[in-house]
Amino acid sequence: MSATIEKPAVPAQAAGEKMIEVVGVSRRFSKKLDIAGKILAKLGAPIREEVVHAVDKVDLTIRKGEVVGLVGESGCGKSTLGRMVAGILPPSDGTILWKGKDRTGMGGKEARAAMLQAQMIFQDPMSSLNPRLKVAEIIGEAPLVHGLTSRAELARYVDEQMRRAGLDPAFKARYPHQFSGGQRQRIGIARALAVQPEFLVCDESVAALDVSIQAQILNLFMALRRELNLTYLFISHDLGVVEHLSDRVVIMYLGRVVEEAPTETVFARANHPYTQSLLAAVPRIEARKKAFATVKGEIPSPLNPPSGCHFHPRCPHAFDRCRVEIPALQEVAPGHKSRCHLNDLPNHGGQPV
Ligand SMILES: Nc1ncnc2c1ncn2[C@@H]1O[C@H](COP(=O)(O)OP(=O)(O)OP(=O)(O)O)[C@@H](O)[C@H]1O
Ligand code: SF4
Ligand SMILES: [Mg+2]
Repeated sequence: MSATIEKPAVPAQAAGEKMIEVVGVSRRFSKKLDIAGKILAKLGAPIREEVVHAVDKVDLTIRKGEVVGLVGESGCGKSTLGRMVAGILPPSDGTILWKGKDRTGMGGKEARAAMLQAQMIFQDPMSSLNPRLKVAEIIGEAPLVHGLTSRAELARYVDEQMRRAGLDPAFKARYPHQFSGGQRQRIGIARALAVQPEFLVCDESVAALDVSIQAQILNLFMALRRELNLTYLFISHDLGVVEHLSDRVVIMYLGRVVEEAPTETVFARANHPYTQSLLAAVPRIEARKKAFATVKGEIPSPLNPPSGCHFHPRCPHAFDRCRVEIPALQEVAPGHKSRCHLNDLPNHGGQPV
């Protein structure tokens, strides 16, 4: 990321109350048979729908005021986990607690409040903004419906959200296509802020933008964090982006969390060989190259993940045990967890062999 990003002035607020607790959460998707598969199945061939374990028994706690970065290669389950955390996708197994309460057990009013308090901001604002609505309508619709402002107050309320997101309210009668990519992302942010959320799930929210615009939007997220005491789950395939924002980083590989630690620890003492290869791929100079260029080997198919440690076919340190036994996510230092059999070897000391 460009050096123009402000490091958050807010210290890690890890002592805050638990906002989200993800406990043993999994999400599976079944891949429907194509026409050829259906015909073969009808003829008696042993073909069944395949199941993707997009998220596999994940535990994650996010405390009020924290910014947690969620990182991993394409298809590892980041968006699926983010959508479950935001409450827009139910888990197949496990529990997600919002401020200590299971959302599935909440009644109408309480469930609606929890839904509004967690908002998601996507990569492509164009596809999530109704092209036929003016910006004022896009931003003002939900707060009006949910009684967060009155019709008489609406214009002033919309102006305030636009200003907060760095948009000039003079443009509120325009349509989304009349704005640039960065401004459209600001419209998405203003729309999310308009329902007074406490928690934002940002899913690759700057990935589609030019580097200089990325920095502006990331700075906006950090300013909003300070102003509104927001909590974030910040999803990115790019460790370099989350470095500048996050208090804590969670690394996923094929549906499983493989490492979790304070951001400084990840960059200074990454324990897991996968995290180490991601770090080797983060350019430390201004000009950014593709982030995953040096993680060796193809990403295996999530439909048929490798046995034992999913990372073993690509891991330079793999040994026999890795091929047969799933490593446990264990604490290697206070607040630092890693899922690697190397940590059970004598004298390993949590460092690469
Ligand atoms: N609705 C769905 N139906 C079927 N499979 C799905 C669905 N959503 C996600 N998957 C599968 O689940 C796995 C995880 O997908 P997900 O989108 O969560 O990954 P990701 O880490 O966000 O990837 P990317 O970086 O490309 O956005 C992938 O194999 C994907 O194909
Ligand atoms: S468990 Fe084995 S294969 Fe997996 S990351 Fe550790 S050393 Fe590599
Ligand atoms: Mg995704």
